[in-house]
Amino acid sequence: MNQYIKKVLIEEEAIYARCRELGKVISQDYKAAQADPLLVGLLRGSIPFMAELIKHLELDAQYDFMDVTSYAGTMSTGDIKIIKDLDTSIEGLDILLVEDIVDTGKTIESVKKLMYNKGAHSVKVVTLLDKPSRRIVNEKADYIGFEIENEFVVGFGMDFNQHYRCLPYVGVLKDELYQD
Ligand code: IMP
Ligand code: MG
Repeated sequence: MNQYIKKVLIEEEAIYARCRELGKVISQDYKAAQADPLLVGLLRGSIPFMAELIKHLELDAQYDFMDVTSYAGTMSTGDIKIIKDLDTSIEGLDILLVEDIVDTGKTIESVKKLMYNKGAHSVKVVTLLDKPSRRIVNEKADYIGFEIENEFVVGFGMDFNQHYRCLPYVGVLKDELYQD
């Protein structure tokens, strides 16, 4: 185990198994709706999750990326700034936002609003992790990998000041490494 990690919360194999299940359910839902979604990955945390999830989609899905927020340390600022926008029009499209973790919910709230303003037909959210105890807006992801307690996690795309994203599991950092 990495020397900075206090405990492993979700093992690599468990993440893979859950992605397989999510892929199946998402495929069924979009098939039933006769829609092929445009997956929009929110940079940079969603990359490993999205890469695993798309392998299990039985759909003619496309994907693109957005970078929308800066997150200083472990505090969510709630400020949404578009750092990288989508390259193509989303008018009339069915969007599936891909997130690493939904915390306060402000990111998905703002991005969903933005997409509907740009004419999206539907906007759903799939997230690897959900931290419902931290929610401050009335938002919930449509598809959730794992619900977790109020702990700051890193790995499988998630960072602390850009570090630890490359860990293959989701883990909790040792307390001495950050201040809340
Ligand atoms: P929200 O807008 O508060 O829901 O924040 C969502 C974003 O905050 C996620 O996309 C992450 O980038 C970041 N975030 C929230 N909680 C954690 C965590 O425990 N570890 C790493 N990043 C987190
Ligand atoms: Mg993020």
